Amino acid sequence: MIKIAILGLGVVGGGVADILESEKSLIAKHFGVECEKFIEVKYVLDLRDSVGHGLDDRLTKSIDDILNDDEVSIVVETMGGLHPAYEFSLAALKKGKNVVTSNKAVVSAYGVELLGMAAEMGVSYLFEASVGGGIPIIRPLTACLCGERINSVSGILNGTTNYILSQMEKCGVSFKEALADAQAKGYAEKDPTADVSGADTCRKICILANIAYDIYITHEDICYNGIEDIEMADIECAELLGKRIKLLGVAKRNGDNIDAFVSPMLVGLDSPLSMVNDVFNAILVEGENVGELMFYGKGAGSLPTATAVVSDIIEAVDAPRRSMIWKNGSKDMISSEDGIISALYVRVNGTGISDKLISHFGDCKIVEHCGCTAILLPAKDQAAHLELLKSFDGEVLSVIKADK
Ligand code: HSE
Repeated sequence: MIKIAILGLGVVGGGVADILESEKSLIAKHFGVECEKFIEVKYVLDLRDSVGHGLDDRLTKSIDDILNDDEVSIVVETMGGLHPAYEFSLAALKKGKNVVTSNKAVVSAYGVELLGMAAEMGVSYLFEASVGGGIPIIRPLTACLCGERINSVSGILNGTTNYILSQMEKCGVSFKEALADAQAKGYAEKDPTADVSGADTCRKICILANIAYDIYITHEDICYNGIEDIEMADIECAELLGKRIKLLGVAKRNGDNIDAFVSPMLVGLDSPLSMVNDVFNAILVEGENVGELMFYGKGAGSLPTATAVVSDIIEAVDAPRRSMIWKNGSKDMISSEDGIISALYVRVNGTGISDKLISHFGDCKIVEHCGCTAILLPAKDQAAHLELLKSFDGEVLSVIKADK
C-alpha cells in the first residue's frame, strides 16, 4: 500500500481525495493488486479543524508529522501560493519523498532547484496539473515527444481570460461586465490580476518552453500582456476581418533562438485555437516530424485538475525518479516582445481613409466599423508601416498581434 500526504485540501486537494476514493478499484487494477485501497491518504495538512471528504481524522497542522513519517512516500502539494509551498516541497524531497504538485507558481519560480533536488535524492517532482488543468501536456512532452524536435508550443492556457473574451464576443458585453460575470460564476478570483494581466499564462508557457526546448526561463524573462485593454470594437473588427481575439502563450523556434511571449492575438478562423471557447484551454504543439498536435480540455476546476494530480501520483509509484532536469543556463537565446515580428492589427479613430491606406499598404485587409478603421498589417516592413500609420490623422486606438 502507498501512503501519501496532501498539503492543502482545498479545491484541487479535495478533488484528489475524492478521485482516490471514487476510482480506487481502477487504481488497484492498474497496479494489479486486489487491495481495498492501494493509495491511502495518511495525512492532510490544513489549517482548518475540519476539511470534510471523510479525512478529518488524518488532519495535522505540522509538516514535521509528514516529513518524519517514513511510511509516507508521496507528498501532494495543492496549497497554492509560493510560501510555504516551496519550503515544504523542498523539505519533502530532501527527505526522499516524491512530490506531486498543481502549483504553477512554485514550479515556475523554483523548478530548477526542486527538480535538481529530486534528481539528487532519486525521487520524482511531478507537475502535470500545473499547466492546462486536466489536459495531459507535461507527460506527452516529456515522454511521448522526447525524441521529437519541437518547433513551437503555443496555446490558450488560461480559462478565465478565455471565458471573458468568449463572453465579449458572444454577448457583446464589455471587458468589465464579462469579468464580473466570470467572478460571479467562480471562474475568476476576487483579485483577477494574475489571470487578466497574462501573468498566469506566462508562468504556464515558461513551464512548457522549459520542457520543449530544454531551457530554463521564468516569467521574469519574457514579456507578457493581458486582455484588460481589449474593447468590444476590437472584438467586432476582428470578427469582420475573419479573426478572433485569444490570449496566447507562445514559444517557438526562430533559428537558434526561442521567441517567447504572452499576448492577445488575432487568430484566423482556420486556426483550431479560434474554436476554443469559454473556460476551455488548448495547446498546439508543432513537431519537426509529427507535425501539428492539439491538446484540448478543461484547464481548471477541481476534478479536471485533480485528475492530472492523480495521474502524477500513479506515475510516481510506477516510475519513481523519472524527473527531468532544467538547466539554469544562458537566457541569451530567448527573445521576447521587442524582437519578435508578427503581423499586426491596428485600429485607428475615424473612417473614410481606407483608399488612402490601400494605396500605401497595398493588398491589406481593412474594415470600417463604429467610427473606426481597422487594418491587418503583414509582418514584413511592419515597423515602417506602423510609423506611417501613426502619421495619418486618425489616433491609433489599438495595436494587437495577429497570426498572419
Ligand atoms: N486561474 C486559472 C485559469 C486557473 O483561469 O485558468 C487554472 O490555472
